[in-house]
Amino acid sequence: MVCLPANDATLQRAAEILRAGDLVAFPTETVYGLGGDATNETAVARIFEAKGRPSFNPLIVHVPDLAAAEAVAVFNDRARCLAAAFWPGPLTLILPRRDEAGLSRLVSAGLPTVAIRVPAHPVAQALLRACGRPVAAPSANRSGQVSPTQAAHVVASLGDRVSLVVDGGACAVGLESTVVDLSGPVVAVLRPGGITREQVAEALGEPVIVSAESPDAPKSPGQLLSHYAPSLPVRLNADHAQPGEALIGFGGTDGATLDLSPAGDLVAAAAAVFAALHTLDDPARFTGIAIAPIPERGLGVAINDRLRRAAAARG
Ligand code: TXA
Ligand code: MG
Repeated sequence: MVCLPANDATLQRAAEILRAGDLVAFPTETVYGLGGDATNETAVARIFEAKGRPSFNPLIVHVPDLAAAEAVAVFNDRARCLAAAFWPGPLTLILPRRDEAGLSRLVSAGLPTVAIRVPAHPVAQALLRACGRPVAAPSANRSGQVSPTQAAHVVASLGDRVSLVVDGGACAVGLESTVVDLSGPVVAVLRPGGITREQVAEALGEPVIVSAESPDAPKSPGQLLSHYAPSLPVRLNADHAQPGEALIGFGGTDGATLDLSPAGDLVAAAAAVFAALHTLDDPARFTGIAIAPIPERGLGVAINDRLRRAAAARG
């Protein structure tokens, strides 16, 4: 594995590695992705192998623009509306696959639909254009570990399981993209993320359901309880640390080891939360991670979704 700064030479090398069926980790505005050619079944299988996922969850396919997206998925009016409003950006659309596009089966875990997104990060954009193929990319971490928001996190988690890590600095959003299912009669948020349900509903001018809140709604196969687990136990809604615990604060929590946003800004907290879990998930220093309450509004909904998963993993 090599980790190189993002420049023209690195991007050319990364594109060659992808076209050869090997894996490249690269920055997006949400988190670092572990990329493989989405039309190459072996490359997609390597992604699952490298991640050590317990099951074949379908992966997100990344393309540089709407035209490339329409080449692999069947768009409808809602999809064009959301693409116009939020692409490039942290929004993933679930749509019917186009059979003739040559997408890997494994990339959709056998489903007739595909998850597709146009990332905004300039390094991701340049890589996708240089590669000329749709790129499957889940977060660039071993399964069950915290998602990487810096190149060093990828190196620590994946090591030699990835050929090249393209270092483009820290990710601005810090949470995975919002996944919106447009393949059925109702619009459903399958995974909360950087774009809120309210933003999606406003752009469409119609109600949007959140699958976690409606028992009948389609479930995202990725919504495994243990998905975002650090190795240390996590305790939510803590107002102070127990002896040995680290304390993640919010909005100026007294005695915090680290405060996600001393000013109480949820956007800043979202950008900090994975790095905080990474930094404090250190059994040599702490016995557990306590986390102060985060308001359940706006991006706080996505942050709490992640934190609840981290805590639930210990029962
Ligand atoms: O921000 C992100 O989305 C990052 C960066 C790298 O772009 N990628 C990412 O990919 O988080 P991944 O593979 O870890 O997440 C895929 C999500 C999962 O929740 C999965 O269940 C859902 O999308 N998904 C993918 N294909 C689906 C499908 N056909 N139907 C329903 N859910 C699907
Ligand atoms: Mg992930």
